[in-house]
Amino acid sequence: MTTSTTSPTDTPRERIFIFDTTLRDGEQSPGATMSLEEKLEIAQLLDEMGVDIIEAGFPIASEGDFQAVNEIAKLAKDAVICGLARSAFKDIDRAAEALQPAIDRGRGRIHTFISTSPLHMKYKLQMTPEEVIEAIDASVRRARNHTDDVEWSPEDGTRTEPDFLCRAVETAIRAGATTINIPDTVGYAVPGESARIIRMLKERVPGIEDVVISTHCHDDLGMAVANSLAAVEAGARQVECTINGIGERAGNAALEEIVMALKVRGDAMPFETGIDTTKLVQASRIVSRATGFPVQYNKAIVGKNAFAHESGIHQDGMLKHAGTYEIMRPEDVGLNQSNLVLGKHSGRHALREKLRELGYELSDNQLKDVFVRFKALADRKKEIYDDDLVALMQDSSEEVGSERIRVKFLRVICGTEAPQSADLILEIEGEERRTTAFGDGPVDATFKAICALVPHDARLQLYQVHAVTEGTDAQATVSVRMEENGRIVTGQASDTDTVVASAKAYVAALNKLMLKREKGTPAPIEATS
Ligand code: KIV
Ligand code: ZN
Repeated sequence: MTTSTTSPTDTPRERIFIFDTTLRDGEQSPGATMSLEEKLEIAQLLDEMGVDIIEAGFPIASEGDFQAVNEIAKLAKDAVICGLARSAFKDIDRAAEALQPAIDRGRGRIHTFISTSPLHMKYKLQMTPEEVIEAIDASVRRARNHTDDVEWSPEDGTRTEPDFLCRAVETAIRAGATTINIPDTVGYAVPGESARIIRMLKERVPGIEDVVISTHCHDDLGMAVANSLAAVEAGARQVECTINGIGERAGNAALEEIVMALKVRGDAMPFETGIDTTKLVQASRIVSRATGFPVQYNKAIVGKNAFAHESGIHQDGMLKHAGTYEIMRPEDVGLNQSNLVLGKHSGRHALREKLRELGYELSDNQLKDVFVRFKALADRKKEIYDDDLVALMQDSSEEVGSERIRVKFLRVICGTEAPQSADLILEIEGEERRTTAFGDGPVDATFKAICALVPHDARLQLYQVHAVTEGTDAQATVSVRMEENGRIVTGQASDTDTVVASAKAYVAALNKLMLKREKGTPAPIEATS
Protein backbone atom coordinates (compact mmCIF):
# COMPACT_ATOMS: atom_id res chain seq x y z
CA MET A 1 0.00 0.00 0.00
CA THR A 2 1.29 3.45 -0.81
CA THR A 3 0.27 6.69 0.79
CA SER A 4 0.63 9.98 -0.92
CA THR A 5 0.53 13.52 0.36
CA THR A 6 -0.67 14.84 -2.92
CA SER A 7 -3.47 13.67 -5.14
CA PRO A 8 -2.77 12.47 -8.67
CA THR A 9 -3.91 15.11 -11.11
CA ASP A 10 -3.41 13.12 -14.29
CA THR A 11 -6.22 10.58 -13.77
CA PRO A 12 -9.68 11.87 -14.63
CA ARG A 13 -11.88 11.88 -11.56
CA GLU A 14 -15.62 11.63 -11.41
CA ARG A 15 -17.50 14.24 -9.42
CA ILE A 16 -19.23 13.23 -6.20
CA PHE A 17 -22.01 15.52 -4.99
CA ILE A 18 -21.86 16.36 -1.32
CA PHE A 19 -25.27 16.58 0.32
CA ASP A 20 -24.99 18.02 3.80
CA THR A 21 -27.74 17.20 6.26
CA THR A 22 -26.23 18.76 9.40
CA LEU A 23 -29.22 21.07 9.71
CA ARG A 24 -31.77 18.27 9.32
CA ASP A 25 -30.50 14.80 10.32
CA GLY A 26 -27.70 16.38 12.38
CA GLU A 27 -30.12 18.56 14.28
CA GLN A 28 -32.09 15.44 15.12
CA SER A 29 -29.30 14.34 17.50
CA PRO A 30 -30.79 14.48 20.97
CA GLY A 31 -29.93 17.93 22.29
CA ALA A 32 -28.45 19.34 19.08
CA THR A 33 -31.15 21.95 18.55
CA MET A 34 -29.78 25.07 16.86
CA SER A 35 -31.17 28.58 16.75
CA LEU A 36 -32.17 30.22 13.47
CA GLU A 37 -29.10 32.47 13.58
CA GLU A 38 -26.83 29.48 14.11
CA LYS A 39 -28.46 27.61 11.23
CA LEU A 40 -28.03 30.59 8.91
CA GLU A 41 -24.38 30.93 9.86
CA ILE A 42 -23.77 27.23 9.22
CA ALA A 43 -25.69 27.26 5.94
CA GLN A 44 -23.70 30.24 4.72
CA LEU A 45 -20.44 28.50 5.45
CA LEU A 46 -21.60 25.25 3.81
CA ASP A 47 -22.56 27.24 0.74
CA GLU A 48 -19.20 29.02 0.67
CA MET A 49 -17.25 25.81 1.08
CA GLY A 50 -18.88 24.26 -1.98
CA VAL A 51 -21.47 21.88 -0.53
CA ASP A 52 -23.65 20.91 -3.49
CA ILE A 53 -26.93 20.35 -1.64
CA ILE A 54 -27.87 21.63 1.82
CA GLU A 55 -30.73 19.82 3.51
CA ALA A 56 -31.89 22.74 5.59
CA GLY A 57 -34.65 21.11 7.62
CA PHE A 58 -37.98 19.31 7.78
CA PRO A 59 -40.47 22.15 7.22
CA ILE A 60 -43.59 20.41 8.53
CA ALA A 61 -41.83 19.48 11.78
CA SER A 62 -42.04 22.90 13.41
CA GLU A 63 -42.37 26.61 12.71
CA GLY A 64 -38.65 26.90 13.46
CA ASP A 65 -37.75 24.34 10.81
CA PHE A 66 -40.01 26.00 8.28
CA GLN A 67 -38.47 29.39 8.92
CA ALA A 68 -34.92 28.05 8.75
CA VAL A 69 -35.52 26.33 5.40
CA ASN A 70 -37.23 29.42 4.06
CA GLU A 71 -34.48 31.83 5.16
CA ILE A 72 -31.73 29.55 3.87
CA ALA A 73 -33.62 29.17 0.57
CA LYS A 74 -33.52 32.98 0.28
CA LEU A 75 -29.89 33.41 1.22
CA ALA A 76 -27.97 30.59 -0.44
CA LYS A 77 -25.83 31.63 -3.38
CA ASP A 78 -24.77 28.39 -5.08
CA ALA A 79 -26.00 25.34 -3.18
CA VAL A 80 -29.25 23.58 -3.97
CA ILE A 81 -31.49 23.87 -0.90
CA CYS A 82 -33.46 20.86 0.12
CA GLY A 83 -36.35 20.27 2.50
CA LEU A 84 -37.50 16.92 3.86
CA ALA A 85 -41.08 15.65 3.64
CA ARG A 86 -42.86 12.43 4.49
CA SER A 87 -45.13 11.07 1.77
CA ALA A 88 -48.19 12.98 3.04
CA PHE A 89 -49.23 15.77 0.68
CA LYS A 90 -49.36 18.29 3.53
CA ASP A 91 -45.66 17.58 4.24
CA ILE A 92 -44.71 17.98 0.60
CA ASP A 93 -46.70 21.17 0.09
CA ARG A 94 -45.24 22.68 3.26
CA ALA A 95 -41.72 21.81 2.11
CA ALA A 96 -42.41 23.41 -1.27
CA GLU A 97 -43.71 26.54 0.43
CA ALA A 98 -40.57 26.85 2.55
CA LEU A 99 -38.32 26.18 -0.44
CA GLN A 100 -40.12 28.52 -2.84
CA PRO A 101 -37.33 31.15 -3.06
CA ALA A 102 -34.84 28.44 -4.03
CA ILE A 103 -37.31 26.71 -6.37
CA ASP A 104 -37.82 30.04 -8.14
CA ARG A 105 -34.08 30.11 -8.87
CA GLY A 106 -34.11 26.49 -10.05
CA ARG A 107 -32.18 25.51 -6.89
CA GLY A 108 -34.85 23.94 -4.67
CA ARG A 109 -35.16 20.23 -3.97
CA ILE A 110 -37.91 18.29 -2.20
CA HIS A 111 -36.70 15.13 -0.49
CA THR A 112 -39.55 12.76 0.23
CA PHE A 113 -39.34 9.37 1.89
CA ILE A 114 -41.30 6.41 3.17
CA SER A 115 -40.23 3.22 4.90
CA THR A 116 -39.89 0.11 2.78
CA SER A 117 -38.48 -2.58 5.09
CA PRO A 118 -40.90 -5.32 6.23
CA LEU A 119 -40.40 -4.29 9.85
CA HIS A 120 -41.11 -0.61 9.26
CA MET A 121 -44.05 -1.19 6.92
CA LYS A 122 -45.74 -3.58 9.33
CA TYR A 123 -45.09 -1.92 12.69
CA LYS A 124 -44.31 1.70 12.03
CA LEU A 125 -46.49 2.52 9.03
CA GLN A 126 -49.03 -0.28 9.41
CA MET A 127 -49.33 -0.27 5.64
CA THR A 128 -49.23 -3.10 3.11
CA PRO A 129 -46.44 -3.13 0.51
CA GLU A 130 -49.05 -2.26 -2.17
CA GLU A 131 -50.14 0.79 -0.18
CA VAL A 132 -46.53 1.85 0.17
CA ILE A 133 -45.99 1.59 -3.59
CA GLU A 134 -49.05 3.76 -4.15
CA ALA A 135 -47.79 6.30 -1.64
CA ILE A 136 -44.40 6.45 -3.38
CA ASP A 137 -46.00 7.12 -6.74
CA ALA A 138 -48.37 9.76 -5.40
CA SER A 139 -45.81 11.55 -3.21
CA VAL A 140 -43.14 11.84 -5.88
CA ARG A 141 -45.69 13.10 -8.42
CA ARG A 142 -46.94 15.64 -5.90
CA ALA A 143 -43.38 16.83 -5.29
CA ARG A 144 -42.72 17.06 -9.04
CA ASN A 145 -45.67 19.44 -9.33
CA HIS A 146 -43.61 21.84 -7.23
CA THR A 147 -40.08 21.35 -8.56
CA ASP A 148 -38.09 19.40 -11.14
CA ASP A 149 -35.58 18.39 -8.49
CA VAL A 150 -37.06 15.57 -6.40
CA GLU A 151 -35.17 13.13 -4.23
CA TRP A 152 -36.80 9.98 -2.97
CA SER A 153 -35.61 7.71 -0.15
CA PRO A 154 -36.77 4.27 1.01
CA GLU A 155 -36.34 4.60 4.76
CA ASP A 156 -34.58 1.55 6.25
CA GLY A 157 -33.51 0.83 2.67
CA THR A 158 -30.63 -1.48 3.55
CA ARG A 159 -33.00 -3.80 5.44
CA THR A 160 -35.54 -3.79 2.63
CA GLU A 161 -36.22 -7.00 0.76
CA PRO A 162 -34.23 -6.68 -2.56
CA ASP A 163 -37.11 -7.32 -5.01
CA PHE A 164 -39.32 -4.84 -3.19
CA LEU A 165 -36.52 -2.25 -3.06
CA CYS A 166 -36.09 -2.51 -6.86
CA ARG A 167 -39.83 -2.16 -7.37
CA ALA A 168 -40.06 0.82 -5.03
CA VAL A 169 -37.12 2.59 -6.69
CA GLU A 170 -38.56 1.93 -10.15
CA THR A 171 -41.89 3.40 -9.03
CA ALA A 172 -40.18 6.54 -7.73
CA ILE A 173 -38.21 6.99 -10.95
CA ARG A 174 -41.31 6.53 -13.11
CA ALA A 175 -43.10 9.11 -10.97
CA GLY A 176 -40.31 11.61 -11.64
CA ALA A 177 -37.65 11.28 -8.91
CA THR A 178 -34.31 12.64 -10.09
CA THR A 179 -32.20 11.41 -7.16
CA ILE A 180 -32.61 8.03 -5.49
CA ASN A 181 -31.12 7.91 -2.02
CA ILE A 182 -30.54 4.62 -0.21
CA PRO A 183 -30.49 5.16 3.56
CA ASP A 184 -28.87 2.78 5.98
CA THR A 185 -31.26 4.22 8.54
CA VAL A 186 -30.20 2.10 11.49
CA GLY A 187 -26.49 1.81 10.64
CA TYR A 188 -26.78 -1.93 10.07
CA ALA A 189 -25.03 -2.43 6.73
CA VAL A 190 -21.44 -3.55 6.16
CA PRO A 191 -19.42 -2.12 3.26
CA GLY A 192 -19.77 -5.11 0.91
CA GLU A 193 -23.51 -5.04 1.35
CA SER A 194 -23.72 -1.30 0.85
CA ALA A 195 -21.92 -1.72 -2.48
CA ARG A 196 -24.02 -4.75 -3.50
CA ILE A 197 -27.29 -2.84 -3.05
CA ILE A 198 -26.11 -0.04 -5.34
CA ARG A 199 -24.88 -2.53 -7.95
CA MET A 200 -28.16 -4.42 -7.78
CA LEU A 201 -30.16 -1.25 -8.41
CA LYS A 202 -27.91 -0.36 -11.34
CA GLU A 203 -28.39 -3.80 -12.84
CA ARG A 204 -32.07 -4.30 -12.23
CA VAL A 205 -33.95 -1.00 -12.18
CA PRO A 206 -35.03 0.47 -15.52
CA GLY A 207 -34.27 4.19 -15.75
CA ILE A 208 -31.70 4.15 -12.93
CA GLU A 209 -29.06 5.42 -15.37
CA ASP A 210 -31.00 8.69 -15.67
CA VAL A 211 -30.98 9.53 -11.96
CA VAL A 212 -28.31 10.27 -9.39
CA ILE A 213 -27.85 7.46 -6.88
CA SER A 214 -27.17 8.63 -3.36
CA THR A 215 -26.03 7.00 -0.14
CA HIS A 216 -27.04 7.99 3.40
CA CYS A 217 -25.36 6.03 6.18
CA HIS A 218 -25.73 6.07 9.94
CA ASP A 219 -22.88 5.15 12.23
CA ASP A 220 -24.37 2.71 14.73
CA LEU A 221 -21.64 0.16 14.03
CA GLY A 222 -18.98 2.76 13.25
CA MET A 223 -19.13 2.03 9.50
CA ALA A 224 -21.00 5.03 8.10
CA VAL A 225 -18.00 6.44 6.21
CA ALA A 226 -16.81 3.03 5.00
CA ASN A 227 -20.33 2.17 3.83
CA SER A 228 -20.68 5.51 2.02
CA LEU A 229 -17.36 5.06 0.22
CA ALA A 230 -18.25 1.49 -0.73
CA ALA A 231 -21.50 2.80 -2.21
CA VAL A 232 -19.53 5.41 -4.17
CA GLU A 233 -17.22 2.75 -5.59
CA ALA A 234 -20.31 0.81 -6.67
CA GLY A 235 -21.87 3.78 -8.47
CA ALA A 236 -23.40 6.21 -5.98
CA ARG A 237 -22.60 9.79 -6.98
CA GLN A 238 -24.10 11.67 -4.05
CA VAL A 239 -23.07 11.22 -0.42
CA GLU A 240 -25.27 12.42 2.42
CA CYS A 241 -23.29 13.40 5.47
CA THR A 242 -22.98 15.85 8.36
CA ILE A 243 -20.29 18.05 9.85
CA ASN A 244 -18.57 16.22 12.74
CA GLY A 245 -20.77 13.22 11.89
CA ILE A 246 -23.57 14.47 14.14
CA GLY A 247 -26.97 12.86 13.74
CA GLU A 248 -29.51 10.50 15.29
CA ARG A 249 -28.04 8.06 17.84
CA ALA A 250 -24.41 7.40 16.79
CA GLY A 251 -24.67 9.97 14.02
CA ASN A 252 -24.26 10.11 10.25
CA ALA A 253 -21.23 9.73 7.98
CA ALA A 254 -18.90 12.65 8.71
CA LEU A 255 -18.58 15.09 5.81
CA GLU A 256 -14.96 15.96 6.59
CA GLU A 257 -13.96 12.28 6.58
CA ILE A 258 -15.69 11.51 3.28
CA VAL A 259 -14.25 14.58 1.59
CA MET A 260 -10.68 14.09 2.84
CA ALA A 261 -10.72 10.34 2.14
CA LEU A 262 -11.63 11.10 -1.47
CA LYS A 263 -9.02 13.84 -1.68
CA VAL A 264 -6.12 12.03 -0.02
CA ARG A 265 -6.81 8.62 -1.56
CA GLY A 266 -7.51 9.78 -5.09
CA ASP A 267 -5.06 7.08 -6.14
CA ALA A 268 -7.39 4.36 -4.84
CA MET A 269 -10.72 6.14 -5.48
CA PRO A 270 -10.81 8.23 -8.66
CA PHE A 271 -13.37 10.76 -7.50
CA GLU A 272 -13.45 14.39 -6.50
CA THR A 273 -15.75 16.74 -4.66
CA GLY A 274 -16.24 20.47 -5.01
CA ILE A 275 -15.44 21.16 -1.37
CA ASP A 276 -12.93 23.78 -0.28
CA THR A 277 -11.30 21.60 2.35
CA THR A 278 -9.56 24.53 4.04
CA LYS A 279 -12.91 25.40 5.62
CA LEU A 280 -13.43 22.02 7.29
CA VAL A 281 -12.02 22.93 10.69
CA GLN A 282 -14.01 26.14 10.80
CA ALA A 283 -17.20 24.27 9.94
CA SER A 284 -16.45 21.74 12.65
CA ARG A 285 -15.96 24.48 15.25
CA ILE A 286 -19.10 26.35 14.31
CA VAL A 287 -21.24 23.21 14.47
CA SER A 288 -19.67 22.21 17.77
CA ARG A 289 -20.42 25.61 19.23
CA ALA A 290 -23.98 25.72 17.92
CA THR A 291 -24.88 22.26 19.18
CA GLY A 292 -22.79 22.33 22.35
CA PHE A 293 -21.33 18.96 21.28
CA PRO A 294 -17.57 18.92 21.77
CA VAL A 295 -15.46 17.28 19.09
CA GLN A 296 -13.63 14.27 20.48
CA TYR A 297 -9.86 14.82 20.63
CA ASN A 298 -9.03 11.90 18.37
CA LYS A 299 -11.76 12.62 15.81
CA ALA A 300 -10.41 12.10 12.28
CA ILE A 301 -9.60 15.31 10.36
CA VAL A 302 -10.95 17.88 12.84
CA GLY A 303 -10.08 16.52 16.29
CA LYS A 304 -7.62 18.46 18.43
CA ASN A 305 -5.13 15.60 18.21
CA ALA A 306 -5.64 14.78 14.52
CA PHE A 307 -2.32 16.42 13.65
CA ALA A 308 -0.56 16.24 17.02
CA HIS A 309 2.57 14.14 17.36
CA GLU A 310 3.44 13.21 20.89
CA SER A 311 5.84 10.30 20.78
CA GLY A 312 9.54 11.06 20.36
CA ILE A 313 9.90 8.69 17.43
CA HIS A 314 7.05 10.34 15.58
CA GLN A 315 8.34 13.83 16.32
CA ASP A 316 11.76 12.86 15.07
CA GLY A 317 10.25 11.46 11.86
CA MET A 318 8.15 14.57 11.37
CA LEU A 319 11.16 16.82 11.69
CA LYS A 320 12.95 14.82 8.99
CA HIS A 321 9.99 14.63 6.63
CA ALA A 322 6.35 15.48 7.40
CA GLY A 323 5.20 12.66 5.12
CA THR A 324 6.57 10.09 7.57
CA TYR A 325 3.56 10.43 9.84
CA GLU A 326 1.24 12.85 8.10
CA ILE A 327 -0.88 11.77 5.13
CA MET A 328 -2.37 15.22 4.68
CA ARG A 329 -1.25 18.69 5.62
CA PRO A 330 -2.95 20.50 8.50
CA GLU A 331 -3.42 23.56 6.31
CA ASP A 332 -5.41 21.46 3.80
CA VAL A 333 -8.20 21.18 6.36
CA GLY A 334 -7.84 24.76 7.56
CA LEU A 335 -5.71 24.15 10.60
CA ASN A 336 -3.27 26.93 11.15
CA GLN A 337 -0.02 25.66 12.54
CA SER A 338 1.47 28.85 13.89
CA ASN A 339 0.26 28.28 17.38
CA LEU A 340 2.08 30.94 19.31
CA VAL A 341 0.39 34.02 19.49
CA LEU A 342 -0.85 37.21 20.90
CA GLY A 343 -0.42 38.72 24.31
CA LYS A 344 -1.50 41.79 26.16
CA HIS A 345 0.58 44.11 24.00
CA SER A 346 -0.94 42.91 20.76
CA GLY A 347 -3.04 45.44 18.95
CA ARG A 348 -6.34 45.40 17.15
CA HIS A 349 -4.74 44.89 13.75
CA ALA A 350 -2.85 41.80 14.89
CA LEU A 351 -6.02 40.42 16.44
CA ARG A 352 -8.00 40.96 13.23
CA GLU A 353 -5.30 39.23 11.18
CA LYS A 354 -5.09 36.31 13.57
CA LEU A 355 -8.85 35.88 13.61
CA ARG A 356 -8.91 36.06 9.83
CA GLU A 357 -6.39 33.20 9.71
CA LEU A 358 -8.70 31.26 11.97
CA GLY A 359 -11.58 31.86 9.57
CA TYR A 360 -13.39 34.73 11.30
CA GLU A 361 -14.11 37.86 9.24
CA LEU A 362 -15.18 40.63 11.59
CA SER A 363 -16.83 43.94 10.99
CA ASP A 364 -15.27 46.94 12.77
CA ASN A 365 -17.95 46.83 15.45
CA GLN A 366 -17.52 43.14 16.08
CA LEU A 367 -13.77 43.59 16.28
CA LYS A 368 -14.22 46.34 18.84
CA ASP A 369 -16.26 44.06 21.05
CA VAL A 370 -13.93 41.07 20.69
CA PHE A 371 -10.90 43.28 21.32
CA VAL A 372 -12.26 44.36 24.69
CA ARG A 373 -12.74 40.73 25.69
CA PHE A 374 -9.34 39.80 24.27
CA LYS A 375 -7.67 42.47 26.41
CA ALA A 376 -9.51 41.28 29.50
CA LEU A 377 -8.30 37.76 28.84
CA ALA A 378 -4.76 38.89 28.09
CA ASP A 379 -4.64 40.62 31.45
CA ARG A 380 -5.25 37.31 33.16
CA LYS A 381 -3.40 34.98 30.81
CA LYS A 382 0.10 35.63 29.53
CA GLU A 383 -0.02 33.76 26.25
CA ILE A 384 -3.13 33.63 24.14
CA TYR A 385 -3.20 30.63 21.82
CA ASP A 386 -5.33 30.00 18.75
CA ASP A 387 -7.67 27.83 20.79
CA ASP A 388 -8.14 30.66 23.30
CA LEU A 389 -9.23 32.95 20.49
CA VAL A 390 -11.59 30.34 19.09
CA ALA A 391 -13.10 29.96 22.57
CA LEU A 392 -13.47 33.72 22.78
CA MET A 393 -15.28 33.76 19.45
CA GLN A 394 -17.49 30.85 20.40
CA ASP A 395 -18.54 32.27 23.72
CA SER A 396 -22.33 32.20 23.40
CA SER A 397 -22.63 34.15 26.64
CA GLU A 398 -21.59 37.23 24.69
CA GLU A 399 -24.01 36.93 21.81
CA VAL A 400 -25.13 40.40 20.91
CA GLY A 401 -28.81 41.02 21.32
CA SER A 402 -29.60 37.88 23.25
CA GLU A 403 -28.35 38.94 26.68
CA ARG A 404 -31.31 39.76 28.85
CA ILE A 405 -29.49 38.34 31.80
CA ARG A 406 -25.81 38.96 32.47
CA VAL A 407 -23.42 37.80 35.14
CA LYS A 408 -22.14 40.94 36.87
CA PHE A 409 -20.40 39.58 39.93
CA LEU A 410 -19.65 36.19 41.40
CA ARG A 411 -17.74 35.18 44.49
CA VAL A 412 -17.70 31.60 45.67
CA ILE A 413 -16.47 30.04 48.86
CA CYS A 414 -15.33 26.49 48.36
CA GLY A 415 -12.92 23.98 49.81
CA THR A 416 -12.97 21.10 52.21
CA GLU A 417 -15.43 22.70 54.64
CA ALA A 418 -19.05 22.52 53.50
CA PRO A 419 -21.35 24.21 52.75
CA GLN A 420 -19.93 25.91 49.69
CA SER A 421 -21.61 29.16 48.79
CA ALA A 422 -22.03 31.56 45.90
CA ASP A 423 -22.64 35.28 46.19
CA LEU A 424 -24.03 36.36 42.83
CA ILE A 425 -25.20 39.53 41.14
CA LEU A 426 -27.12 39.20 37.90
CA GLU A 427 -28.22 42.07 35.73
CA ILE A 428 -31.72 41.12 34.65
CA GLU A 429 -33.14 43.36 31.95
CA GLY A 430 -31.03 46.25 33.15
CA GLU A 431 -31.70 45.79 36.86
CA GLU A 432 -29.13 44.34 39.25
CA ARG A 433 -30.28 41.57 41.61
CA ARG A 434 -28.21 39.85 44.25
CA THR A 435 -28.44 36.62 46.20
CA THR A 436 -26.35 34.11 48.11
CA ALA A 437 -26.95 30.38 47.76
CA PHE A 438 -25.40 27.26 49.24
CA GLY A 439 -24.73 24.02 47.43
CA ASP A 440 -22.81 20.85 47.11
CA GLY A 441 -19.70 22.42 45.61
CA PRO A 442 -19.16 25.85 44.04
CA VAL A 443 -20.89 25.08 40.72
CA ASP A 444 -23.97 23.68 42.44
CA ALA A 445 -24.11 26.74 44.71
CA THR A 446 -23.75 29.06 41.70
CA PHE A 447 -26.50 27.34 39.71
CA LYS A 448 -28.77 27.46 42.75
CA ALA A 449 -28.12 31.19 43.03
CA ILE A 450 -29.06 31.66 39.37
CA CYS A 451 -32.25 29.64 39.89
CA ALA A 452 -33.13 31.82 42.89
CA LEU A 453 -32.79 35.00 40.82
CA VAL A 454 -34.36 33.60 37.65
CA PRO A 455 -36.87 30.93 38.70
CA HIS A 456 -37.48 28.36 35.93
CA ASP A 457 -38.42 24.73 35.43
CA ALA A 458 -35.75 23.86 32.88
CA ARG A 459 -33.83 20.71 33.68
CA LEU A 460 -30.06 20.64 33.29
CA GLN A 461 -29.31 17.76 30.92
CA LEU A 462 -25.62 18.26 30.39
CA TYR A 463 -22.79 20.06 32.13
CA GLN A 464 -19.37 19.71 30.58
CA VAL A 465 -16.02 21.38 31.19
CA HIS A 466 -12.92 21.22 29.08
CA ALA A 467 -9.62 23.00 29.23
CA VAL A 468 -8.97 25.01 26.08
CA THR A 469 -5.18 24.85 26.32
CA GLU A 470 -2.63 23.38 28.67
CA GLY A 471 -1.44 24.97 31.91
CA THR A 472 -3.09 25.98 35.16
CA ASP A 473 -4.03 29.37 33.74
CA ALA A 474 -5.83 27.73 30.82
CA GLN A 475 -9.34 28.85 30.03
CA ALA A 476 -12.12 26.42 30.76
CA THR A 477 -14.92 26.09 28.25
CA VAL A 478 -18.16 25.05 29.85
CA SER A 479 -21.12 23.72 27.87
CA VAL A 480 -24.56 23.27 29.34
CA ARG A 481 -27.71 21.90 27.82
CA MET A 482 -31.14 22.33 29.39
CA GLU A 483 -34.62 21.28 28.54
CA GLU A 484 -38.01 22.79 29.29
CA ASN A 485 -41.22 21.28 27.89
CA GLY A 486 -39.40 19.69 24.98
CA ARG A 487 -37.46 22.87 24.16
CA ILE A 488 -33.75 22.25 24.30
CA VAL A 489 -31.17 25.00 24.54
CA THR A 490 -27.42 25.05 24.94
CA GLY A 491 -25.00 27.61 26.31
CA GLN A 492 -21.25 27.80 26.15
CA ALA A 493 -18.77 30.13 27.84
CA SER A 494 -15.05 30.28 28.49
CA ASP A 495 -13.11 31.85 31.30
CA THR A 496 -9.90 31.24 33.18
CA ASP A 497 -12.18 30.70 36.19
CA THR A 498 -14.19 27.50 35.73
CA VAL A 499 -17.02 28.60 38.03
CA VAL A 500 -17.40 31.94 36.24
CA ALA A 501 -17.47 30.08 32.90
CA SER A 502 -20.14 27.77 34.36
CA ALA A 503 -22.30 30.68 35.49
CA LYS A 504 -21.98 32.40 32.11
CA ALA A 505 -22.77 29.23 30.17
CA TYR A 506 -25.85 28.61 32.31
CA VAL A 507 -27.02 32.19 31.84
CA ALA A 508 -26.37 31.99 28.08
CA ALA A 509 -28.65 28.95 27.89
CA LEU A 510 -31.30 30.74 29.96
CA ASN A 511 -31.16 33.71 27.58
CA LYS A 512 -31.80 31.37 24.66
CA LEU A 513 -34.64 29.68 26.50
CA MET A 514 -36.34 33.02 27.08
CA LEU A 515 -36.08 33.83 23.41
CA LYS A 516 -37.62 30.48 22.53
CA ARG A 517 -40.44 30.93 25.02
CA GLU A 518 -41.15 34.34 23.58
CA LYS A 519 -41.20 33.12 20.01
CA GLY A 520 -43.45 30.29 21.19
CA THR A 521 -41.15 27.75 19.50
CA PRO A 522 -43.18 24.55 19.80
CA ALA A 523 -41.64 21.24 20.81
CA PRO A 524 -40.66 19.37 17.62
CA ILE A 525 -42.83 16.59 16.14
CA GLU A 526 -41.64 13.01 16.02
CA ALA A 527 -38.75 13.05 13.59
CA THR A 528 -37.06 10.46 11.44
CA SER A 529 -33.47 9.37 11.32
O1 KIV B 1 -31.85 7.77 7.93
C1 KIV B 1 -32.84 7.93 7.21
O2 KIV B 1 -33.52 6.99 6.79
C2 KIV B 1 -33.20 9.28 6.85
C3 KIV B 1 -34.12 9.46 5.69
C4 KIV B 1 -35.15 10.46 5.93
C5 KIV B 1 -33.32 9.74 4.46
O3 KIV B 1 -32.70 10.23 7.41
ZN1 ZN C 1 -30.80 9.59 8.44
